[in-house]
Amino acid sequence: MAPTRILFVCLGNICRSPMAEGVFRRVAEEEGLIDRFEIDSAGLGDWHIGQAPDHRAQKAARSRGVDISSQSARQVMYEDFDRFDLVLAMDGSNLAELKARAPHEARGKIRPFLDFAPHVGTKDVPDPFFGGAEGFDHVLDLIEAASRGLLASLTGKEKVRAKRGA
Ligand code: 4NP
Repeated sequence: MAPTRILFVCLGNICRSPMAEGVFRRVAEEEGLIDRFEIDSAGLGDWHIGQAPDHRAQKAARSRGVDISSQSARQVMYEDFDRFDLVLAMDGSNLAELKARAPHEARGKIRPFLDFAPHVGTKDVPDPFFGGAEGFDHVLDLIEAASRGLLASLTGKEKVRAKRGA
């Protein structure tokens, strides 16, 4: 079976989308389903191309056992809209910008990531870049919830369990 290709997108590709890429990969690995997916992340802006994730994002992810240190920021490319099956936006502004850049026929692939966590009560993963460390923890809570919801939705499982003790 061809893998489902998922692209996580935020503004800079150094905070939210790298954490989403790392956490979704981890959740899919835990469930033994990683082979079904091709996962990547990208940013709408070009400011951080080639950089590793923000050290605060790396630290917050590491505290949950997710290593994102080897990721490197890149910008969303036109070809991404063809290559990926799902393009998941971290917030409403990212969503609008992606839809504006995408060819008409690809717009249906672009969705808010938090559509997969309706119970969290927000549509936006807030940008933690200008805040403190607690912002990154909150972002990770939202990303974990949406990652489990996304995996459940794509695999037909009713629920993807939270890690024991989490
Ligand atoms: P991200 O956070 O979109 O979650 O990667 C940001 C990182 C950098 C900037 C903005 C948001 N920036 O303006 O450089």
